Amino acid sequence: MTYDYQETTDDLLKRIDIHSRYGGHNIDDWMLDILPLNPGQTILDVGCGAGKQCFLYHDHLDGQAEITGGDVNAELLEKARNENLRLEKDVKFMPLDFDRPFGVPDNYFDLVSCCFAIYYAADIPFTISEFHRVIKPGGMMFTSGPMPANKKLFYDIITEATGLPIPPMPGSSRFSTEIFSTIQSLFSRVKLEIFENPLTFESTDPFIEYTRASLSEDRKLWNSFFQDKDDFNRIMSQIETVANRRIEKEGKLVMTKVVGGILATK
Ligand SMILES: C[S@@+](CC[C@H](N)C(=O)[O-])C[C@H]1O[C@@H](n2cnc3c(N)ncnc32)[C@H](O)[C@@H]1O
Repeated sequence: MTYDYQETTDDLLKRIDIHSRYGGHNIDDWMLDILPLNPGQTILDVGCGAGKQCFLYHDHLDGQAEITGGDVNAELLEKARNENLRLEKDVKFMPLDFDRPFGVPDNYFDLVSCCFAIYYAADIPFTISEFHRVIKPGGMMFTSGPMPANKKLFYDIITEATGLPIPPMPGSSRFSTEIFSTIQSLFSRVKLEIFENPLTFESTDPFIEYTRASLSEDRKLWNSFFQDKDDFNRIMSQIETVANRRIEKEGKLVMTKVVGGILATK
């Protein structure tokens, strides 16, 4: 199955910013806690977007690693390269489409990661076998994605606002099922870690900003909701009405991100 999905830079950066301003926990701390990061490693981050995880690894290892980020989106890669220059880091960025053979050698990386991206792959066994191919024997794969309970409040509000069923999301419907079992079938040791992060909104505005940045990016995944651009604005105002009502009643909105992290050894 092919997913008609293209991340936009502004929406991705907006969501990252809202996670850091309204979240109770920091996902970067969780990742640094569970990832086997060591100086001298070769690291590839697939679906790197604007480079968030690449820069995290770089800073944690004080630049003492060979780090490459790959993404299919040229605009995000350019943003990542500009940030790399601006902050004087030495991360490399390359075009990489995880639906095609990765342009990197076999058995090369100590760690290959893929954060909030793998579930857009058209053919999961193919993509996971590419991860496996490029990781050294004994090296590790890490991938993160939403668990089925992720952002329950977000979907509840959309359902209440529209009366429409939520379409299956590639992340929460594939990550802990098809993706986890495919990794288990190829790698020798596999572990699932869970990260929960409540985002607390005491006013409607940041919740609406978050919703806008999620729905517009995923708009093509929500075909049953959006036939034309007027639908988007109409649905956003219905969502705002429900969010306002809930804030008036409960004083705040708490949307909990429930993220899985799959760690696998080759
Ligand atoms: C939600 S963003 C996550 C970006 C980054 N890992 C982060 O956490 O900030 C999903 C990323 O997957 C990338 N992506 C989607 N399809 C892809 C493909 N076929 N090959 C490589 N990357 C892809 C998008 O361009 C986007 O950068």
